[in-house]
Amino acid sequence: MACKKQRSNLAIALAAAAVLLGLAGRRCHGDVVQFIFGDSLSDVGNNNYLTKSLARAALPWYGIDFSSGMPNGRFCNGRTVADIVGDKMGLPRPVAFLDPSLDEDVIFKSGVNYASGGGGILNETSSLFIQRFSLYKQIELFQGTQEFMRSKIGKAAADKLFREAYYVVAMGANDFINNYLLPVYSDSWTYNGDTFVRYMVNTLEAQLKLLHSLGARRLTFFGLGPMGCIPLQRILSSSGGCQESTNALAKSFNEQAGAVVARLSSSLPNATFRFGEAYDYFQDLINRPYMYGFNNSRAPCCSLGRVRPTLTCTPLSTLCKDRSQYVFWDEYHPTDRANELIALETLRKLNITVVANSTST
Ligand SMILES: *[C@@H]1O[C@H](CO)[C@@H](O)[C@H](O)[C@H]1NC(C)=O
Ligand SMILES: *[C@@H]1O[C@H](CO)[C@@H](O)[C@H](O)[C@H]1NC(C)=O
Ligand SMILES: *[C@@H]1O[C@H](CO)[C@@H](O)[C@H](O)[C@H]1NC(C)=O
Ligand SMILES: *[C@@H]1O[C@H](CO)[C@@H](O)[C@H](O)[C@H]1NC(C)=O
Ligand SMILES: *[C@@H]1O[C@H](CO)[C@@H](O)[C@H](O)[C@H]1NC(C)=O
Repeated sequence: MACKKQRSNLAIALAAAAVLLGLAGRRCHGDVVQFIFGDSLSDVGNNNYLTKSLARAALPWYGIDFSSGMPNGRFCNGRTVADIVGDKMGLPRPVAFLDPSLDEDVIFKSGVNYASGGGGILNETSSLFIQRFSLYKQIELFQGTQEFMRSKIGKAAADKLFREAYYVVAMGANDFINNYLLPVYSDSWTYNGDTFVRYMVNTLEAQLKLLHSLGARRLTFFGLGPMGCIPLQRILSSSGGCQESTNALAKSFNEQAGAVVARLSSSLPNATFRFGEAYDYFQDLINRPYMYGFNNSRAPCCSLGRVRPTLTCTPLSTLCKDRSQYVFWDEYHPTDRANELIALETLRKLNITVVANSTST
């Protein structure tokens, strides 16, 4: 911990001194990093490098409340839930896999984030977005990272890094919203709700086992929120209410995915796999926004007015007056403030003690 706090010039000076003193190769002890696998809820810039992807947060007003206020690839005005959870656990924020600054030092100090807008548990999810990393693809990229690190810092040090790291997997909403629930995808007519959830959960189980076989020991899977209440789903009905059938799919998925995570945690050697979620809390926040200091839990803050749906937060969109009063930032994604509350509830339910504050930089 003490090392991590001084990543600046001092750290560089100390590293230079270490080289002079012949201590090169000895690394800062106690650094624990994260490897994050996910979709647009956790993307910190990968899709901005996928130039053909239709799911990118590369233009204003994305990022308006983050650091300099420029778009940074997050599908939010500010921080993601994974940003905030990691910050509060005192972990460094991992860098996007496609970020050109990524090298062995960055990976050693901060880990890697493979999350990609549109990504799903299933390979076929979001094919309409043209480019995105599915979970299998993200794990393939992680295997590449492992080989790279072994070649750079040696097998023993690399294996220790991967064994001690925290793993976050946060996926599943796109498998419904951008696959099963859209009739253009063959999964929508091949499966019914029950068989589709089973198919997803079986695939997820194989993926979590694969990550364990690659060295992941401490892993948290983030379950789904009430995705039938995102603005994009509300406009499907004339009343503007939540799509309860969509919420039922999310609940069914959470229940079965939670059981798989618990089973793997007790059966795989040395595994501490946890299921993190805030479904009921998020639903309450949507139902009673005033109780939490919000004023609007139905409409997106960033919107093109009547031109909906899909990705309608663009430079031409208008912003709500007070972003901290809106639960949703765009048609799909919560605001920074909603993410903060969801992250705190997730940590509380996991019994994880908050050791540090989170900042928007
Ligand atoms: C999913 O994609 C990966 C490559 O990213 C491939 O190795 C795997 O065979 C695919 N799985 C299925 C079931 O298509
Ligand atoms: C489990 O942990 C023990 C003690 O650290 C270690 O000796 C053993 O190799 C580990 N097994 C696996 C499969 O990781
Ligand atoms: C809440 O939003 C409504 C419009 O949607 C507005 O008239 C009202 O002033 C807002 N209340 C607060 C406390 O900001
Ligand atoms: C958190 O702690 C409570 C009470 O100590 C316990 O009932 C619950 O199972 C714990 N949850 C997790 C995820 O460890
Ligand atoms: C977080 O910030 C609050 C003030 O905003 C402060 O009271 C608290 O001690 C901080 N917690 C940690 C762990 O730094």
